[in-house]
Order: sequence, then C-alpha cells, then structure tokens
Amino acid sequence: RNPELEQLLQAYEWSAKLYHFLLKNTEHGKPAMDYLKSRGFTDRAIDTFQIGFAPARWDTLVQFLDKRSFDLGAMEKGGLLSSKHDGTGYVDRFRDRVIFPLHNRNGKVIAFAGRILGEGQPKYLNSPESRLFTKSRILYNLHQAKSEIRKTRQIVLFEGYGDVISAWEAGVHNGVATMGTALTDSHAAMMRSLAGEAIVCYDGDQAGQAAALKSIPILETVGFTVKIAILTEGLDPDEFIQKYGAERFKLQVLDGAVSSVKFKLIYLKKNHILLEEAGKVAYIKDAMEVIAPLPSPTEREIYLKELAAELQVSFDSLKQECNEKRIAMQ
Ligand code: UTP
Ligand code: MN
Ligand code: MN
Ligand code: MN
Ligand code: MN
Repeated sequence: RNPELEQLLQAYEWSAKLYHFLLKNTEHGKPAMDYLKSRGFTDRAIDTFQIGFAPARWDTLVQFLDKRSFDLGAMEKGGLLSSKHDGTGYVDRFRDRVIFPLHNRNGKVIAFAGRILGEGQPKYLNSPESRLFTKSRILYNLHQAKSEIRKTRQIVLFEGYGDVISAWEAGVHNGVATMGTALTDSHAAMMRSLAGEAIVCYDGDQAGQAAALKSIPILETVGFTVKIAILTEGLDPDEFIQKYGAERFKLQVLDGAVSSVKFKLIYLKKNHILLEEAGKVAYIKDAMEVIAPLPSPTEREIYLKELAAELQVSFDSLKQECNEKRIAMQ
C-alpha cells in the first residue's frame, strides 16, 4: 500500500468522472460534444471510453481537488495540475480539451490525453510520465479489450485513440493503441501474453506505413504471427470507417491484412518503377533481401512464384538468384 499513489489514483478516477459529467451535462461541454458528434462518435462510445471535457477556465480541477483536500503539490507531480510560473500556486493542466482517459490493464485511470477541439498544436496534450503512467508500457483500451484478445488469440494494434474507438463501434473489440507510433518491446511482450496473432492497423500515410514496417521485428521477436492491414488513400482507420463503414473496414482492411513478408514486398516496390528494366532488377534485388532469409523452402517458393508472375520473369531464374543470395548470406 502506498497512500500517495492511492491518492493520485483516486484523483484521476474522480477527475475522469468530473470531465465526463461536464461533457455530457453542461453548457460548457456543448462545443466539445458537438465536435465529437461531428466526428461520428456515438453516445455509447463516449460512455464506453469515458470521454470527457476539460473547460477553458484555469481552475476547474484546482477547485475540485482542493475542496476534496487533495495535496495539490502531489497532484502537480502526478500530472493533473501545472505550477504557476511565479510559483504561487497551481492551475489546471488540461484546458479546453476533449479528455480521453488512459487506463492501466486493471481499468484504473492513470493518465489523460487531451485533444484540442479542431485544429491547433499540440493536437494531443498527454499527462507527463509518472509513477503511474509510463508511455512505453501502456496500451490504450487494453483493460476493455483483453478478454476478447484472449478469446480470439488475436490483437489489433492501432496508432490512435479515435481508431480504437471507431473500430470498437464497428464491432472490433480486440483493438488497442500505443500513444503515437512508438511500439516498445514491453508493449510487445504484454500483447504476446494474451495473443498469438497481431494485426498492425496503422495509418495509411507515409509515417504510419513506416511505423508498421518498424513494428514487424518487434512483434516477431516475441513470437507473434504478424499481419499488416493496408489503408487506402492515406486514411487512418477512424477516417476509413467514417467514410466507408464498418463492414468494409472489417472485410477489406482487417480480413485483407497481408503477411509481414508481403507487406515488406509491397513497401519496397513503391521505390521502384517496374515499367523500366532497371527498376525491375532493382526491385528483385530488394525483394531477395526479404525472401532469401526465410527459413521455409515452401514459403520462399510461394513468394518467388508471385514475384515471377508479377514481373513476368521465370521462376527458375528467381529461384537461382535466391539460392545464390542464401549462399552469400552464410
Ligand atoms: P495521429 O496524428 O494519427 O492522430 O496520431 P489521430 O489519432 O488520428 O488523431 P485525430 O483523429 O486527429 O484526433 C496518432 C496518435 O499519436 C499520439 C496520439 O496517441 C494519437 O492518437 N499523438 C499525436 C500525440 O500524443 N500527440 C500529438 O500531438 C499527436
Ligand atoms: Mn457515462
Ligand atoms: Mn498518424
Ligand atoms: Mn491518425
Ligand atoms: Mn484520426
């Protein structure tokens, strides 16, 4: 038992309830509610994810916590408040932002992410790292998703809060997100304790696809079978669902997720102009870096055959090239 930590947990729990109440039941919360509705968030999603609103004034939480005799200095250290510049007291850290509570895997609120209404910087303001909140160890929505993950032995990994929430609304209840794109070894280990297959469903933009590529070795090292979902038009999963609907997201994006090898080949292919002979040769060279190290001969054969058909070259010559590469690798 650690009284200081329990105080902070209590403060986060009550603050989350306050913000949720202010969003749903007050005039102050109306612009935030309108914003969420304009993005397609339903009342059910707002309740399930305990979404809230931190008003623009400087002392909503200061007053609330002070009245309940919380130690404001400890609340500042815990990331709920900020010190005034002149050191004479405290102000709220989150102001005029939509609040997404972040929970640990036992369902306790341990941090907030505050989104600006509309455009502006920073888009998300997060709680600072604290004894409760370590970015590298927290997965958004793990507390609600863990039973479904265990049951299906499959986990879907997203980039953002909105992606998890929209996917949840679409009926995908095994989705979690890292806070941004930095997936760590401890995230991977935590995920692996619940599932054997990971579907990486990052944003369709360049940053998201590059992050997906980076996630593959991290997930494969802990023993995951990795699949990558591919979003078209640079959309993120949330945008895709809002634009094309739940069914198409599940059928086209999730069920259409490709193997990690296939994803690497697709990714590499974008760097080459396959209509030119030199482009074909260069792509084959890159592709061999991915295919040659595969331990299974049948797996190599499958990808080499696909490559042969796609580039209209013979399977035999590709196989020979692959074997030479394998010898060179030893
Ligand atoms: P994105 O830029 O893809 O944002 O960052 P998003 O999730 O699609 O946000 P919306 O839909 O515009 O609301 C992905 C994730 O990176 C983290 C957040 O966790 C976000 O969900 N991030 C992003 C931050 O922590 N701070 C930022 O300023 C931006
Ligand atoms: Mn509620
Ligand atoms: Mn993104
Ligand atoms: Mn996004
Ligand atoms: Mn988004």
